[in-house]
Amino acid sequence: MLWTVITEERCTKKLTAWKANVICHATGLFNRGKIPAIPGATKFQGRAWHTADWPEDADLRGKRVAIIGTGPSAAQVIPSIQPIVKSLAIYQRSPPFCLPRNDYAYSPLQKFIFTWIPFAHYFYCLYIGWSASRIAYKAFRPGSGVTEIMEEVGKQHLENQVADPVLREKLRPSGRFGCKRPLFLDDYYPALCQPNVELITDPPIEITEKGIVSKPVKQLTERDVNKVKKERMVAHSDDVIIEGLDLEEYKSASDGAERHTEVDVLIWGTGFVVQDWGTVYEVVGRCGKTLGEHWGQDCHTLYGISLVCND
Ligand SMILES: Cc1cc2nc3c(=O)[nH]c(=O)nc-3n(C[C@H](O)[C@H](O)[C@H](O)COP(=O)(O)OP(=O)(O)OC[C@H]3O[C@@H](n4cnc5c(N)ncnc54)[C@H](O)[C@@H]3O)c2cc1C
Ligand SMILES: NC(=O)c1ccc[n+]([C@@H]2O[C@H](COP(=O)([O-])OP(=O)(O)OC[C@H]3O[C@@H](n4cnc5c(N)ncnc54)[C@H](OP(=O)(O)O)[C@@H]3O)[C@@H](O)[C@H]2O)c1
Repeated sequence: MLWTVITEERCTKKLTAWKANVICHATGLFNRGKIPAIPGATKFQGRAWHTADWPEDADLRGKRVAIIGTGPSAAQVIPSIQPIVKSLAIYQRSPPFCLPRNDYAYSPLQKFIFTWIPFAHYFYCLYIGWSASRIAYKAFRPGSGVTEIMEEVGKQHLENQVADPVLREKLRPSGRFGCKRPLFLDDYYPALCQPNVELITDPPIEITEKGIVSKPVKQLTERDVNKVKKERMVAHSDDVIIEGLDLEEYKSASDGAERHTEVDVLIWGTGFVVQDWGTVYEVVGRCGKTLGEHWGQDCHTLYGISLVCND
């Protein structure tokens, strides 16, 4: 099979056609941000951006900031901006497991041992490689014993770092370890305990000119739900996909009442579109079928890297 790849030079718009027997797509998974379709998002008068699209001139000092999502991106952003912002409202849909990172600088003694004791550094690297592959492998297999240990370590980390019982319950993971990407952070929970931070667990159901309206799931009216459902019809763009807001996924503790949180900046920490099989550009086979259509919901490749497509 001979593929034709047509590329367009960004500045000059010049088109070039390339012929190839094999195409290697290395465009990654995390290249299209995902933003939930919350009614009113276009009305917001402050600045808003996705974690993957951080503006170079962003200055959060003294600002009232909201961040939606508590995945690894948001969880790394939160401790770094918490000390400089005036207030930080964090909207959490479901609490992730967070385990200690135990990050530390190697001491002069360790560096001396690695440098002067033969094979010490080599065996240390072997140990890291072995533990990362063997322990991590088992950690994602419930019943292996390691999953249960991870869950216990996560729970202990929460007990050790969060003294407020209400906040602790909001942060207590409800699922099993490994169902979603766990966090390995020492500064995430402490940042959430700071007085300028608030963890909001009710769904954000509307964005206004000045901020975000959230409401406990049990108090949602039919009108609220319909408004959110209608918002799913919004358009897609190349860089960002607007995804429907699934209210049923909000199971965590309630904040008590409807509230409007005024903010100057809104940060979307809501992840990426990763289940949209195909590539970020259209690849069309001999019979006119795109790669996305060929795969459908079931993405098969040989050893995860190669594909013969006769369509
Ligand atoms: C915030 C963040 C932090 C992460 N931290 C870690 C970490 O600490 N450790 C870890 O192991 N993993 C981490 N990951 C995951 C890791 O980044 C990815 O697994 C890894 O980068 C995947 O490599 P890749 O080469 O497949 O894709 P990418 O690194 O995403 O590279 C894809 C490339 O394709 C280009 N591209 C995309 N579309 C087009 C197009 N249409 N035309 C031409 N070029 C295109 C992009 O510009 C990019 O250069 C992190 C991910 C994120 C988002
Ligand atoms: N240092 C690192 O290793 C590192 C750092 C950052 C990122 N990463 C990688 O990058 C990947 C992406 O991380 P990410 O944090 O950007 O995305 P993510 O893991 O997909 O997390 C997205 C967050 O947004 C929430 N969310 C998504 N859709 C929502 C909606 N409609 N309404 C409300 N909340 C919604 C999710 O809630 P739910 O939890 O309820 O789904 C989750 O908290 C990770 O899997 C990781 O591999 C790695």
